[in-house]
Amino acid sequence: MNQSSLSYFILLGFSDLSFQLRLAIFLILSVFYLVTLLGNILIIILITIDPHLHTPMYFFLRNLSFLEMCYTSVSIPRLLADLVREDRSISFPCCAVQLYFFIFLGTTECFLFAVMAYDRYTAIANPLRYTVVINRTRCLQLATGSWVGGIFLALGQAILISNLPYCKSHIINHFFCDVPPLVKLACGDKYLAEIEISLYSTVVVMVPFLLVLLSYVCILAAILKIDSSQGRRKAFSTCASHLTSVSLFYVPGICVYVVPKSKYSLDNDRLLALFYAVIIPMLNPLIYSLRNKEVKGALRNRMNRKLCSQR
Ligand SMILES: *[C@@H]1O[C@H](CO)[C@@H](O)[C@H](O)[C@H]1NC(C)=O
Repeated sequence: MNQSSLSYFILLGFSDLSFQLRLAIFLILSVFYLVTLLGNILIIILITIDPHLHTPMYFFLRNLSFLEMCYTSVSIPRLLADLVREDRSISFPCCAVQLYFFIFLGTTECFLFAVMAYDRYTAIANPLRYTVVINRTRCLQLATGSWVGGIFLALGQAILISNLPYCKSHIINHFFCDVPPLVKLACGDKYLAEIEISLYSTVVVMVPFLLVLLSYVCILAAILKIDSSQGRRKAFSTCASHLTSVSLFYVPGICVYVVPKSKYSLDNDRLLALFYAVIIPMLNPLIYSLRNKEVKGALRNRMNRKLCSQR
């Protein structure tokens, strides 16, 4: 960031609200944050220790849980602190690092959802070849590809945005250093940068999203062909929960990063951002894993064994 003009930003966050209201938000978000961490840690532990869950789908789910924990930790601890203190300044380097991690983890999540849809598609449309197509190596390649892709693509974006000239104002009308508020703040000629940034969001958000939709259309077609109604229901319920969580993630993402900027105000962004930074990472473990029969079974097994061994 242009050190010569400004050396820090101020995150306005929710400073327009009264202290009581901010305190209430602080308490609610703290609980949400704890639930997110505990829920995701529980899933990671369960999937790691239970041999029944050593399948590609749960490998990706464990990876997603890990990703969600990192993702919410990029913005929420900082927001929690800002809600109850007066000094809301953030130095340029911190802001750039936060921006980088947010883009990196968001990009990886977009990719990981596409990978998971591909996994479900193969399992349902091509059950006989599933174990050959999605083998151990392929799993690792797909997951690693998502992470490495996120790491490097985000680096370019974060460098581009942090090198924009910031001279007018250092007040960010948001609760963390996100792409739209920073670009809005930049002064001077940012036309090319804006085009590049919207191109990036469109490709990174829309391409995986369309791939996900495409796989679910194919999955639906394949499910309708299943003869047994029980098999149909099982396949459908797994995919319905995936599809719910995927839509919850992509739809706000599309609103904030893909839809042209004049169509909405940054005020709505703040609420949407709260939604995808806090609510989604909290709901995902519930939607994906904990309402899943196999995971519930694994959890019950563990608890029974624990109770028995205590006797
Ligand atoms: C997620 O996948 C990456 C890349 O394969 C791997 O390095 C990491 O350990 C995985 N994390 C979990 C919690 O499974």
